[in-house]
Formats: sequence, structure tokens, C-alpha cells
Amino acid sequence: MGAEPLEIYLEDRDVRRSLCEDVRFGLTATPKWLPPKWFYDSRGSELFEEITRLPEYYPTRAERAVLAAHAADIAAVTGAKTLIELGSGSSEKTRLLLDALTRHGDLGTFVPLDVSASALRQSTRQIAAEYPALRVRGIVGDFTRQLDRLPTGGRRLVVFLGGTVGNLLPVERAEFLTAMRAALEAGDWLLIGTDLVKDPGVIVPAYDDAAGVTADFNRNVLRVINRELGADFDPEAFAHVAVWDPEHEWIEMRLRAERPVRVHVLDLDVEFAAGEELRTEVSAKFRPEGIAAELADAGFAREAFWTDPDGLFGVTLARAD
Ligand code: SAH
Ligand code: AVI
Repeated sequence: MGAEPLEIYLEDRDVRRSLCEDVRFGLTATPKWLPPKWFYDSRGSELFEEITRLPEYYPTRAERAVLAAHAADIAAVTGAKTLIELGSGSSEKTRLLLDALTRHGDLGTFVPLDVSASALRQSTRQIAAEYPALRVRGIVGDFTRQLDRLPTGGRRLVVFLGGTVGNLLPVERAEFLTAMRAALEAGDWLLIGTDLVKDPGVIVPAYDDAAGVTADFNRNVLRVINRELGADFDPEAFAHVAVWDPEHEWIEMRLRAERPVRVHVLDLDVEFAAGEELRTEVSAKFRPEGIAAELADAGFAREAFWTDPDGLFGVTLARAD
């Protein structure tokens, strides 16, 4: 059947407008911050893939172990006809689900959705070639805004892997889960990966690797703003910082100005004092009871919760009530 042309729900002008809003808001706030979705141009998506292979970055390996152990259960319980993946990136681990659902017999359509058109183009081509009987419909879209555009009908399973839900702030997360539930019908399924609270001695190196790949990924947001908005950030003037916040149980990535920096972007002159930090991402870590409660608040019932053998990462299968 092959890959269909990507469905573009985010036109370049919408992306630019939304980046302008986020830059104007975030760089004039105290403290300064930017939403993490702007990391992911083609270079950012490639850097993320490199992160997933780093020795320190355990989440991808741990989540893959869970999926390898339980993909057949997920296929048997859900019997999904349509598999929708949010923030799909390379969909590398998703192949375990595609294999199991194909073997189970009912899967007809795979719908990956991502803001990164480059990642999506590559993954949809590869998956269509590997699974010729599958209809592959890639959607360039924003999962915080466009869940109402997902395909309807059939037995649907939505998967949201990697712990990306932890990159939303708590209020955004609640809004996301509520919108997700509203986009589904009772009996549809959600499979959601969440990194778990653990010793910060394990978490911090995963976000501050020895090879400096995460630092490069972090600085990429400045390169995106330079290119898209004609700004004049010098990425090398900023140091990569990863800090565990024990109160919120999340890790923050920040960019710290190494010297006083003045940046011209849009009609703004943005000043950074030496040592001033710009927050670029939070990555929340979860406790099993917290995940179940947040899902229940949004109208999902937990069907199963699995972790890898080391208890690093959790995957929850939940049914829309
Ligand atoms: N699911 C993959 C990739 C995780 S990286 C994995 O588990 O390895 C996070 C992915 O989410 C990236 O591909 C990024 O482009 C995408 N993304 C981030 N914010 C997004 C948003 N608001 N809407 C859609 N995709 C988003
Ligand atoms: C995509 N997301 C779940 C990653 C994470 O671990 O929060 C993004 C990332 N940031 C730094 N390294 C990886």
C-alpha cells in the first residue's frame, strides 16, 4: 500500500507565528524560558536519535525492553485496527507494536504524528517499505493543539512513547490528557511511556552526557531561532546545564550565558546577564500511583502497568472510559 504523502496540519506560516509568540513570551519572561518542541528541526531530530544511543541515556533502552516483553499482550488486549503515534520521531520502538499487531491480524492503518516533517518523512517511507500491507498516513502536527484531527472510527490505539508526556508542564499535561480523552471514544486505548523517579545520580548523566550530544541538542533551539527568525544568538556563548528539581521531580535543561549576551530577535533586544539561565525543557519523572491518578482524572482506566527489569521506565496501557 505504501506511504501516503504527509498530511500537513502545520503550515510554515503557522509554525513561524507560533515560534514568534513563544520567543516573544519566553524571552521577555523572568526567568526566561522556551518550550521544548522547538529543538526538533532535522538536525534536532537527528541529535535526539543520537541521544537515544548514548550509554548514559537509559529511557529508550528501558522502554524498548518493556515493549519487547509486552507487545503481544498489548496486541491481544487492544486488537487495534488503527495505531496512532504522537511525537513519533523515528518510530523505532514502535516497530515492536507494528509487528505484534500485524501478527495479531487486525491492524490496517498506522498514523504517526510529529512536528518534525523531516523525521516523519523518513520514518513513514521506511515503515511503508517494511510493512507493505499497512496504510501509513503521516501527519505533520502539534499534539498540544491538533488531537481533534486524528482519524476516527475503528478500534484505535494511541501510543505516546519515550516519556515525551513528561516534557509538558503539569497544567499542559492535564490539558493534553483531557483533549486526548475527548478525541477518543469509550473503549479506545492509550499506551503511554513515562520515565520513573529514581536516584538523581542516574538521571542527571542521562541529560548531561560525557560526549556532549545533549549539550548540542540543547543549543540547537538557538540555531532554530537564528534560522527561522533571523536572530543572532551565539550558541557557543551558552553552557548546557541539567539540574534535578527534587520538589517537582523533574530534570530541567537550561542554557547559561557564559558572559553578558545581547541578542536581537524580532523587534526585541534581549539581554542576558553573565550566569543568567534560559530554561529550555523540563522532563518530569513519574511515580506509578501519580500516573494512574492523572489518567483517571482525564477519564482513562488503567488496564496494565509494566516496567523494565531494572524498574527505570514505566509503560501504562489505559482504556478510554
Ligand atoms: N517517540 C520517539 C521520539 C521522542 S522525541 C521515541 O520515543 O524515541 C520527541 C518527539 O516528539 C520528537 O520527534 C518531536 O519532534 C516530537 N514533538 C515534540 N513536541 C511536539 C508537539 N508539540 N507536537 C508534535 N510532536 C512533537
Ligand atoms: C523526548 N523527550 C522524552 C526527551 C527527554 O528525555 O525528556 C528529550 C530529551 N531531552 C534531553 N535528552 C532527551
